[in-house]
Amino acid sequence: MTDILRLPESYTFFLFDTIDSTNDEAKRLIKSGGYEQAVVFSKEQQQGRGRYGKDWYSPEGNLYLSIIIKPTKRLDMLAQASFVAAVALRETLLPFLPEDVNVEYKWPNDVLINGKKVAGILLETVAVANDDVVDRLIVGVGVNVEHFPKEEMRFPATSIVDSGGKQVVLEELLTTFVWHFQEKLDVWQQSGFEGIRKTWRRHARGIGKEVDVHLADETFSGVFQDLDENGALCLKMQNGKERLVEAGEVFFK
Ligand code: BTN
Repeated sequence: MTDILRLPESYTFFLFDTIDSTNDEAKRLIKSGGYEQAVVFSKEQQQGRGRYGKDWYSPEGNLYLSIIIKPTKRLDMLAQASFVAAVALRETLLPFLPEDVNVEYKWPNDVLINGKKVAGILLETVAVANDDVVDRLIVGVGVNVEHFPKEEMRFPATSIVDSGGKQVVLEELLTTFVWHFQEKLDVWQQSGFEGIRKTWRRHARGIGKEVDVHLADETFSGVFQDLDENGALCLKMQNGKERLVEAGEVFFK
């Protein structure tokens, strides 16, 4: 472990050269060791996973990590943790990027540089003691540092290097992120979601504009009005009514 890897003391750290998925390893660690706070980092992933069962492009050179936490919030509030992570990610990335780039959030939890996706977050819950009680949360984070998928994607992608960013030492990026994440997590757990929500809204892409929303069985458009107090997307529909979306994918016009 190098000096750069000075994480908050409460975290147990696991480092791999390669792994199937850091989220899967986090699940195994929770099941076998009951860890309450840990960070799993791998230089590459063989089966990196994104949201909706999609693959996550995971060659060596990018950042792949999963943070295990013991949430103190109700199950229906846990999705807010992805905004906590997104806000921490933006703050982590800014010092590595040229000043003139635009770093924004895409609902619910992507980070964009000049409109292209640079990072994604995959939240997963685990029940340890009793199948009915979620007592661990895994926050999986992937950041395109050197590489990004170039084949036809549903949404355009970029990397820190492609955006003209500074040379990145992955361990430094990891450590910076974990500290930012812990700080935002404390704010969320102690003072609630409002502060995180306000920060997220300030840098959210598409507020006030028409967006397309894709659900598993439905696609529709509406004006992106706000992020509600629980993290849902508030849309104004053509008929003037408001519609709340709790999970789905957003595309900008
Ligand atoms: C998404 O935008 O679809 C979420 C991508 C999350 C990728 C990260 S990489 C580290 C962790 N391990 C995984 O298998 N997935 C997450």
